[in-house]
Amino acid sequence: MELQELRSFIRGLPKAELHLHIEGTLEADMIFAFAQRNQVPLPYASIEDLKNAYQFTDLQSFLDLYYAGAAVLQTEQDFYEMTWAYLEKAAADGVVHAEIMFDPQTHTGRGIPMETVFAGIAGALRQAKPGLGISGSLILSFLRHLSEENAFATLEQALPLREAYRDVWLSIGLDSSEKGNPPEKFERVFRRCKELGFRLVAHAGEEGPASYVRDALDLLGAERIDHGVRSEEDPALMQRLQQEQVPLTVCPLSNLKLCVVGDLKEHNLKRLLEQGICVTINSDEPAYFGGYILDNYVATAQALGLSKEQLVQLAANSMAARF
Ligand code: ADE
Ligand code: ZN
Repeated sequence: MELQELRSFIRGLPKAELHLHIEGTLEADMIFAFAQRNQVPLPYASIEDLKNAYQFTDLQSFLDLYYAGAAVLQTEQDFYEMTWAYLEKAAADGVVHAEIMFDPQTHTGRGIPMETVFAGIAGALRQAKPGLGISGSLILSFLRHLSEENAFATLEQALPLREAYRDVWLSIGLDSSEKGNPPEKFERVFRRCKELGFRLVAHAGEEGPASYVRDALDLLGAERIDHGVRSEEDPALMQRLQQEQVPLTVCPLSNLKLCVVGDLKEHNLKRLLEQGICVTINSDEPAYFGGYILDNYVATAQALGLSKEQLVQLAANSMAARF
């Protein structure tokens, strides 16, 4: 298929985006605009200068820059505009449903009230159905490089808002530095979240081993695995993922930019799909990794030679894996 034909074919498939960090949709020009509006100093002379810094060697090298960029988010308007800009791009890519992760600790740790974060992000998401035809929900994600105690405190801070945001805040997630921060560190807080009736997801098997995927399922009760590409290292785990149809929210351009794979042609997404795993394609941090969801589909389709049927399957998987 020609590139334009491929893009419009994929655009036309109803898709859900299930692995998207809203702070990762902050485009470089938005970072500069918000920094100016909020009088936040930036260590970069220009937008170009900032973009030139987007050269990552691993997850941590990205996270350091990503958390620094998020510091320009100060007001409800900032959170609203960031989220709305994402939703407009998602709509243009044919996304009909978006489950959006946000990291409150990145903001409350800088003195931004929890309410400001919720109001801005949820405010935009609530407008997405009438305004853009996109349904969705929010995944409050704990930062795994911080303590479980900090996660518990964050949960306590957010719970008073639950009633007001019951229509959108459905889920809990786990992200940030995987190596050295195994799932077991968050077993108690995830148990509490389950008791509270939240849906559960966790990043695992991105840089961490296949055993972290198993532990995310068994110890955290995760219903979907974010990334999970290293599951392939454990055949018994692969069989389980296939049998239980545990969705993997794979992010090919992220994996490329963070050197999880050296080349998209080496990505295991097609093999996972052909083994009957419920694989989905997502964008993770599109502003930093060179593309939104349609770019991820197209680049992967080209690199791996995915068939039309496989593209249809990937989109169908994403719709089936929605909460
Ligand atoms: N937080 C934001 N992006 C992430 C990623 N790709 N892996 C882990 N934590 C993240
Ligand atoms: Zn992620």
